[in-house]
Amino acid sequence: MPADPEIRRLTPDDLIAFKALRLEALRTEPQAFGAAFEENAARPDAYFLTLIGAEPNLVFAAFEAGELVGKAGFIVEVGLKNRHKGFLWGVYVRASHRGRGIGEALVRRVLDHARSHVEVLRSAVVATNADAGRLYRKLGFQTYGVEPHALKVDGRLYDEELIAIVFAD
Ligand SMILES: CC(C)(COP(=O)(O)OP(=O)(O)OC[C@H]1O[C@@H](n2cnc3c(N)ncnc32)[C@H](O)[C@@H]1OP(=O)(O)O)[C@@H](O)C(=O)NCCC(=O)NCCS
Repeated sequence: MPADPEIRRLTPDDLIAFKALRLEALRTEPQAFGAAFEENAARPDAYFLTLIGAEPNLVFAAFEAGELVGKAGFIVEVGLKNRHKGFLWGVYVRASHRGRGIGEALVRRVLDHARSHVEVLRSAVVATNADAGRLYRKLGFQTYGVEPHALKVDGRLYDEELIAIVFAD
């Protein structure tokens, strides 16, 4: 049985491993993410550094035997009337490491962090993505709407469930 992964926030020193995992996610699971591999593969390192973020924005990552195997990002929305809301993005666990609670542990870390920075945490999940949908519902996300035809990947259209957790009424 492998040891529990270490979960910590990424720093700019993790840039190379983060960029590789991000591009792996977009390449292997194109229907799961709004961002496209083709566009992101061409982006400079500076772009990936902005994704790693600066407090309170961040990416939590799971490391096993020094290898980056999963990630989950958090960003606070901008503007006076929106900065009470955060967004969970880029949740991904390497296929070889799935089904062992790493995804849950990552999203739980984002929830703990988000709770002290925003009043609402939103996200979106492709309606046919059963694994991710089950994980988010288990952790308390509720669906507040569906965006029809939200993504078009290789000519196929995908609806997205819009999901949120309200921390404070
Ligand atoms: C969605 C995703 C992040 C989940 O990651 P994961 O690490 O497999 O998630 P978990 O292991 O926490 O949970 C998955 C299942 O494993 C089970 N599990 C958790 N801990 C376990 C353990 N120690 N042993 C065996 N199974 C376990 C969970 O109960 C869960 O099963 P359930 O849904 O039937 O309850 C992963 O499937 C993924 O990267 N998918 C592709 C990208 C994607 O869709 N991202 C989401 C975009 S919105």
